Amino acid sequence: MLDDELKELAPWQQEIRSRFPIITRHPELTYLDSAATSQKPQAVLDAVQTYLTTANANAGRGTYPWANRTTALVERTRRRVKEFLGDRDPDSGRSAVHFVGGTTEGLRTVARDWLTTHLTDGDEILVPYADHQANLVPWLEARRQLAERGVHVEVRGLPYQAESGDYDHRALPGTIGPRTRFVAATHIHHVYGGDMNVHRLRAAVGPNVPICLDAAQSVGHLPVSVTELDVDFVVFSGHKALALPGTGAVWARNAPARGPEFRPGGWQGTPNTVGVASLEAALDWLDAAGTDRIARWTTALAARLTDGLRHLAPYEILGCRASLAADSAVQRRHGIVSFRHHGIPADDLGFILFSHGFMVRADSLCQAGADETAASVRVSAHVYNTVEEIDRLLSVLVSLC
Ligand SMILES: Cc1ncc(COP(=O)(O)O)c(C=O)c1O
Repeated sequence: MLDDELKELAPWQQEIRSRFPIITRHPELTYLDSAATSQKPQAVLDAVQTYLTTANANAGRGTYPWANRTTALVERTRRRVKEFLGDRDPDSGRSAVHFVGGTTEGLRTVARDWLTTHLTDGDEILVPYADHQANLVPWLEARRQLAERGVHVEVRGLPYQAESGDYDHRALPGTIGPRTRFVAATHIHHVYGGDMNVHRLRAAVGPNVPICLDAAQSVGHLPVSVTELDVDFVVFSGHKALALPGTGAVWARNAPARGPEFRPGGWQGTPNTVGVASLEAALDWLDAAGTDRIARWTTALAARLTDGLRHLAPYEILGCRASLAADSAVQRRHGIVSFRHHGIPADDLGFILFSHGFMVRADSLCQAGADETAASVRVSAHVYNTVEEIDRLLSVLVSLC
């Protein structure tokens, strides 16, 4: 079924791929590290060039035309982010977008400027210990800062289920209590590639507990709707969504409030205006290409790779175990497949793959959980990757059996 998907989308994908200059200029190389950062289409490069040659100025300060254009760009892109995230009421003032350098900074900002201001002694928060450390460290720092002020907060782990590769929703009721005030979760896992099914979290925690979503691996890869997910914060990195490094945003639902309004503190200084220009262009590009089609393509590529690997004895594929059963027809990994070879250390495997032109990630992948930190190789695809690239990668991996 997923192979049919690949056949159907192939002509579209071929045309889309041709819009990424770095990809077409390096046919000898295959970039499969898009979970770390994405490549940029020509439209984003053009937007950067146009901004820097027609309007470059500071935002929110000057009154001359370039400054006004830059201020308008920043405000327009704030609205664009809301729209892109399926915020049905972008002009109502019920939500806010705050630009940040990436997901790490965004999650830190939520922790520092929001979480620490409204928790009280004895409150509990739920955090994902088995996810990216950027989605754990800020909450632990917040606990420490609160403790210094005499406010003691209990941090509990979101239960994780290896079989299905998402949060264990059956175990959740035992973790949630009347003092649970906040949940930090991840949309798509950065190692396992699985959808963490956060929509089920809302049902489990009830209508009043704020949920903060790390969407680093979903925005730009699949449709993300704040309306459907019913979360309170969405944090993402623009650079993983085809925009420039140093871009990202926090979307915050300010009303109906499940906590105080999100007002990041302090003087913000000059925004990354050229990054904002790239983000606007990237979101336009993604909408035109269709995030649903991008998701179908990358999911099908990941399924092809998983399918090819799961029968090969030396390899252990990480994440959802159920998907690896002999009778499992599909593997819903969103473009990310991580694995270990029992006889070859991950970093060596990374070097071997590069000697064949494949650029993949090979280390501990910023995993937070103590028992999750053994190194692995991560292959992560985006819309510019092809079936032929995955098949060539597979034949190299087969040759190492
Ligand atoms: C799930 C997840 N969260 C957070 C981050 C951190 O993103 P950034 O380095 O852009 O701050 C990453 C990056 O790999 C990620 O995959």
